[in-house]
Amino acid sequence: MVNQTIQDEIARLKREQGAVIIAHNYQIPEVQEIADLVGDSLELARAAAGLEEEIIVFCGVDFMAETAAILAPEKRVLLPAVDALCPMAQMVTAGEVRTLRERYPKAAVACYVNTPAEVKAESDICCTSANAVAVVESLDADQVIFVPDRNLGRYVARFTAKEILPWEGFCYVHDRMTVEDVDQAREAHPDAEVLVHPECRPEVIDAADHVFSTSGMVRHVCSSPGEEFVIGTENGILYPMQKKCPGKRCYPLSEQAICINMKKTDLPLVRKTLERLEPRVTVPPEIADRARAAIERMLAL
Ligand code: 13P
Ligand code: SF4
Repeated sequence: MVNQTIQDEIARLKREQGAVIIAHNYQIPEVQEIADLVGDSLELARAAAGLEEEIIVFCGVDFMAETAAILAPEKRVLLPAVDALCPMAQMVTAGEVRTLRERYPKAAVACYVNTPAEVKAESDICCTSANAVAVVESLDADQVIFVPDRNLGRYVARFTAKEILPWEGFCYVHDRMTVEDVDQAREAHPDAEVLVHPECRPEVIDAADHVFSTSGMVRHVCSSPGEEFVIGTENGILYPMQKKCPGKRCYPLSEQAICINMKKTDLPLVRKTLERLEPRVTVPPEIADRARAAIERMLAL
């Protein structure tokens, strides 16, 4: 038999198994290339809810695959890198949310999609970076407990009259970007627009020109008349950005902006996952049912 590339093998296995591969914007380029769909958390959650295939290979981190498993409980959701955990998602527990509810009985609870299923199950609604303001505005409460990302919570607070009670979680990749990074980038690229993710600190958001989810950044770069952009998010985004907007020049805000968990998935792992149909991500039905209600409320907006 002629030498097959690993990409050929993955394509064959995917066909034989009736699987679909979806990948987050931060995945390594080789993984993005073999994926059927690449997107931000909201796009991938929406896709997972409507896919025809019985097997979903989710190239991303734990909470993303869990969200897919909650939305499509009859499907087999596989997470190739079983240790690809989002540290921010671990920064709040279901018990802590219950305690907050006791302390603020009139408040609604909005949880970022970067949370474990148990936290979603305790929340009224879920949100992503693409829709957090609209989600909070949709709530019929004047006070909103927002978990776990303090930076996203404070960003949302800029656009609503509701009182936001943010939790103190953060993403280590975005939280360590600084105003000095923005100043240096502006000096190096004076004509560039500076785009940052809402997981960045408030002062970094103040210093930037625009704030977007990962796919929102890609859309903005493609549609803006500008030619140069400084990108303040995990640097994996530069690959889909350059692919979709080849005429534009995009520079990372920080060379250190690497999410190690997003880089754990590679082609040999994807192939092994398709061969074994493991590791599968499952959520106990009593938790999944309550978590699904919070996610579906968001998707219905
Ligand atoms: P997006 O939903 O904007 O893709 O962000 C996901 C994430 O994990 C950001 O760190
Ligand atoms: Fe989690 Fe941050 Fe990695 Fe996103 S970039 S998956 S929030 S650690």
